[in-house]
Amino acid sequence: MNVLLKSLRMFVLLALLIVPLAACTTSTSNEGDQVVNLYTTRHYESDDLLFDLFEEKTGIKVNVVSEEANNLIERIATEGESTQADLLFTADAGTLNKATERGLFQPVASSTVEANIPASLRDKKNHWVGLTKRARVIVYSLDRVKPEQLSTYEDLASAKWKDRLVVRTSTQIYNQSLLASLIEVYGKDRATKWAQGIVSNMKRDPQGNDRAQATAVASGEADVTIMNTYYLGLMMNSADKAEQEVAKKVGVFFPDQATTGTHVNISGIGITKHAKHTANAQKLIEFLTTEQAQRIFSDASFEYPANPAVKPSNWLQSLGEFKEQNIEMSVLGTNNAEAVRIFTESGWK
Ligand code: FE2
Repeated sequence: MNVLLKSLRMFVLLALLIVPLAACTTSTSNEGDQVVNLYTTRHYESDDLLFDLFEEKTGIKVNVVSEEANNLIERIATEGESTQADLLFTADAGTLNKATERGLFQPVASSTVEANIPASLRDKKNHWVGLTKRARVIVYSLDRVKPEQLSTYEDLASAKWKDRLVVRTSTQIYNQSLLASLIEVYGKDRATKWAQGIVSNMKRDPQGNDRAQATAVASGEADVTIMNTYYLGLMMNSADKAEQEVAKKVGVFFPDQATTGTHVNISGIGITKHAKHTANAQKLIEFLTTEQAQRIFSDASFEYPANPAVKPSNWLQSLGEFKEQNIEMSVLGTNNAEAVRIFTESGWK
């Protein structure tokens, strides 16, 4: 074989090797890009503020895709290796657990995250990291209910609240996670009786979001409801005067303080298994756990910080400290199907 032919063969061989390698690097890794793609179910102003701040600090732009939790999970699963999502950020531990079970995350290996966020608010294998907490509390009419009349979630199912209660639908994840937690702390039988009792006390068919429940209580349609703490903080500090007026007419009560504690859920974030910008994704997670970012979550969204070094916003502090349910966050996912079944059987629409 002459030299020319030899080098031609070498060239072809090299070309055959290099082309797929090059294609491979462009399709699976864009680590050099100054972007990170985030799929999120959250809809809070605090997050936009934080992503802008992150870009200012690092030059990395956060591209946001917002959608409902199940749609995002299906989308990441269907997209598989070609997904554009580097991160999934969601406002419910049950959803995080579902994404973990579907194998959509890869572990976050970061000493910064481990130092900033307690282990109880992270997945055991660090597939997701909790960033904020919220309590699902009893909200009551300051005119018609005295806090001494309130005690537990179970008490809301007793006959004394007949036709005095409004709640959100059972199709929404916040109530599903509440019931999932009650299955854990009360047991299945008591949790089922609870759901049935709530249904028989309803003033109207479940409708509207959390804020709509507070509005119904403030207007006198009902006396008590169940909702997340931060919505009242947002209403209290809203630019909309009508929302402020609603928030002034209701009180917050932390149930189950003498027993199993108030239901707490988290928002959390994870890096997708097929992320193309893992280094940037990790940088964003680390930033979101810092004291500066955690303060913004609490001040702008009225959520409880997950980083224990950060104090909650003044409004949250004004509600006082409370005892939280002592359960594994993953339980909200593993008990979800049972919760949905109980809701359906009890007629909670
Ligand atoms: Fe929400």
